[in-house]
Amino acid sequence: MTKWTTADLPDMTGRTVVITGATSGIGLITARELARVGALVVLAVRSVDKGRAVAATFPGRRAEVRELDVSDLASIRRFAAQWSGGIDVLINNAGIMDVPLSRTADGFELQMATNFFGPFALTNLLLPHLTDRVVSVTSQLHKMGRTHLEDAEDLAGQLRPYKGTAAYNDSKLNLTLFSTELQRRLTASGSPVRSFLAHPGIAATNLATHTVPGKVTRALRFLFNDAEHGALPTLFAATQDLPGNAYVGPDRPGGMKGHPKIGKPAQTALEPQTAARLWSLAAQLTGTGADLPAVA
Ligand SMILES: NC(=O)c1ccc[n+]([C@@H]2O[C@H](COP(=O)([O-])OP(=O)(O)OC[C@H]3O[C@@H](n4cnc5c(N)ncnc54)[C@H](OP(=O)(O)O)[C@@H]3O)[C@@H](O)[C@H]2O)c1
Repeated sequence: MTKWTTADLPDMTGRTVVITGATSGIGLITARELARVGALVVLAVRSVDKGRAVAATFPGRRAEVRELDVSDLASIRRFAAQWSGGIDVLINNAGIMDVPLSRTADGFELQMATNFFGPFALTNLLLPHLTDRVVSVTSQLHKMGRTHLEDAEDLAGQLRPYKGTAAYNDSKLNLTLFSTELQRRLTASGSPVRSFLAHPGIAATNLATHTVPGKVTRALRFLFNDAEHGALPTLFAATQDLPGNAYVGPDRPGGMKGHPKIGKPAQTALEPQTAARLWSLAAQLTGTGADLPAVA
């Protein structure tokens, strides 16, 4: 079977894509490739200078840079309030992994804030502008995640001892549950917008700097995707005609590397009652998401 590559990207002229965390790794490549095929790509980044330097390297310079710190609800609200016009594709790509414990201005553990609360709030606030799809970039490690849904404090990460790797896995499970619940609610409300998940397998980017020493990454590189291949599932989900809730990842055994194919998230990420409980607590904590009611 032919492997899907960036040569198969359709013309995206006239389409607007917003992508978070486009200054490095998978996000940078995704943004560059979508700009190359004609999309107006908005790089939603925490460092505008870094974003401008990246955008200046794109073919045709079809890119705009706007400030957005996805770990900070005030920044997300500013970004959304300044938006006018339609967005065809929102890509929730920005993420961090296994960082030392810290809490955000909103009182959230930083990985949960960046990898889950941020995409949740941003998507909900931009929903009135969205016309086609949301792609959320998850990780296969969501399969090792656990939910913490006792109450709002539990979800925000204030009640348990901190473990960096577990916090990452948990945040990606929440992101995956959010994405599947988003599709349920969009369908129930009659919206044509679709929600997709993409994961890069393992890709050599800056993500694991806190977890894996650089020399180990370099030695094991043959096992991974390079960042260019890591971006393919996101690009596939952002541009192909797929059923809502499609989960796209690499095709090689174990899903660690290769070319895009549709797979399945963990069963825990497909549980509607858990997802509805997560949505309700996240809505309470972020003050967003109440406009899209639960599925009866
Ligand atoms: N690489 C992998 O093997 C792998 C596997 C599974 C999932 N993923 C997911 O893929 C996505 C992209 O990661 P990557 O591998 O490309 O890592 P990366 O090279 O470290 O890129 C992460 C991007 O996120 C941005 N970012 C981090 N915190 C942010 C914040 N608070 N506000 C706005 N932007 C922020 C970073 O911006 P700065 O440049 O300012 O730091 C950077 O542009 C993440 O969601 C990650 O969890 C990656």
